[in-house]
Amino acid sequence: MSGSRVALVTGGAGGLGSAIARTLASAGRRVVVADLERAAAERVAAEISGLAVALDVTRPESVSEAVARARDALGPIEICVNCAGWDEFRPFLETDDALTAKLIEINLVGPIRVSRAVLGDMSERRFGRIVNIASDAGRVGSSLEAVYSGAKGGLIAFTKTIAREFARFAITANAVCPGPADTPLLAGMIEKSDAGRRVIDAVERSTPLRRLGRPEDVAPAVAFLASEEAGFITGQTLSVSGGLTMA
Ligand SMILES: NC(=O)c1ccc[n+]([C@@H]2O[C@H](COP(=O)([O-])OP(=O)(O)OC[C@H]3O[C@@H](n4cnc5c(N)ncnc54)[C@H](O)[C@@H]3O)[C@@H](O)[C@H]2O)c1
Repeated sequence: MSGSRVALVTGGAGGLGSAIARTLASAGRRVVVADLERAAAERVAAEISGLAVALDVTRPESVSEAVARARDALGPIEICVNCAGWDEFRPFLETDDALTAKLIEINLVGPIRVSRAVLGDMSERRFGRIVNIASDAGRVGSSLEAVYSGAKGGLIAFTKTIAREFARFAITANAVCPGPADTPLLAGMIEKSDAGRRVIDAVERSTPLRRLGRPEDVAPAVAFLASEEAGFITGQTLSVSGGLTMA
């Protein structure tokens, strides 16, 4: 049954990820909530009768174990939403090698690793949906987020190449780009940075729809791109950001 397809959501315990997990579950998907925060993943999974798995996208063995656990419990993953991500506001010249590596590992290498772990099964089954949560920062840049923006821009380019390479297996790959959205990640970033509040207030003022995003703004876009009906849409970059970027 197409409605009951197995969907993996990385970062599924987070602000956007948990909304995506709930929306996919209400569309009948069997959802794997995969997150670094196991207890939080279990809470979300319990709510939606899903499966919680511990996952650290920065560790190759954790990725293969999580995908194997999901596969054993529910079958091959047919929908993969790469939503795990992390950032911190930091002037570029204060972004040292350790922080640079962390940002790239979580936001770019992680989704690449998870995609590699699920695309074999998808290819064999001649069906797959990859939805990568990038960011408007990856399309147009964002103050105090130089390396994060680079990683998300890389994720968008990666998504397009996967879309090309796997189209022959009827697999689609698309990127969803939120603008600043009201989640624990953004709240933490603002709290830790002197300039963060000013930057976000300025972004909110220049957003045509005049507010920050909410998880429930982003989740339906992801669910649509993950649907059967979106099978002829691939390699696209969809901003869900109140008109902040219109390119
Ligand atoms: N909130 C925003 O303003 C915003 C804007 C644009 C893009 N995004 C992107 O949306 C996605 C979700 O962000 P959010 O705002 O919901 O943040 P969040 O912190 O609420 O959720 C992120 C989740 O990812 C998990 N995670 C972090 N590192 C991980 C790792 N190594 N392995 C597995 N899981 C890990 C966290 O535990 C958390 O549950 C991220 O990719 C983020 O970059 C967010």
